[in-house]
Amino acid sequence: MRRKMAAGNWKMNGTSAQLAEVDTLIAQTGDTGVDILLCPPATLLSRMSMAAEGHALQTGGQDCHPAEKGAHTGDVSAEMLRDAGATHVILGHSERRTDHGETDDLVAAKTVAAWSENLTAVVCIGESEAERDAGTTLDVIGTQLAGSLPNGATGPRLVVAYEPVWAIGTGKVPTLEQIAEVHDFIRSTLIARFGETAGNSIRILYGGSVKPSNAAEIFAVSNVDGALVGGASLKAADFGGIITALSAA
Ligand code: 13P
Repeated sequence: MRRKMAAGNWKMNGTSAQLAEVDTLIAQTGDTGVDILLCPPATLLSRMSMAAEGHALQTGGQDCHPAEKGAHTGDVSAEMLRDAGATHVILGHSERRTDHGETDDLVAAKTVAAWSENLTAVVCIGESEAERDAGTTLDVIGTQLAGSLPNGATGPRLVVAYEPVWAIGTGKVPTLEQIAEVHDFIRSTLIARFGETAGNSIRILYGGSVKPSNAAEIFAVSNVDGALVGGASLKAADFGGIITALSAA
């Protein structure tokens, strides 16, 4: 049985004042029976981790450098994330693949770096609209999985987030059949590569325009173990609604 996960990605949003949402979320969230993760900008990570101490909220980074340390101005290492209180790190988000030209190889190297600091890697994959229209979605997903995941993935070390690029921040969501097709494909690919036990223990999250109003139907889809939420994770009321839908699923 995989434990469900509600993960929030704040992206490049939030200064100190935004941490009030975390206090509200903690105050309104009791024992939900699901994992709750928030990934703020690096500048807020340490304070968010302190606010979350003693509560069922985990924190994560949004990226890390593949190297342990050194002359990489502006970058953050996995050890630094761990030191700031993170237990997870999002890797290979489509915005990083686009804005920073991140390749599958680089994402795999970052995943190895995350594992060396005992961080759980939340590796993102997803097709563009043109790829969906061309009917190549499963090919794209297969290639990204093969290239972005190092050997040795297990449930504690890896979460896969399926985020169709065209659904991110657009209000467009794939049909439930489309989500099921990709999540079932990811599950069988993970089992084929990492074996039955590990492949079945890795959580697969859906991401892209998840809101309280569409969460329940998405969480009912086969092999959807939760969500990676962008915009709606910035407001405690919205993220709380998604968490409630997940714990009822
Ligand atoms: P939205 O929920 O804002 O569409 O963003 C999804 C996402 O990219 C999470 O990583």
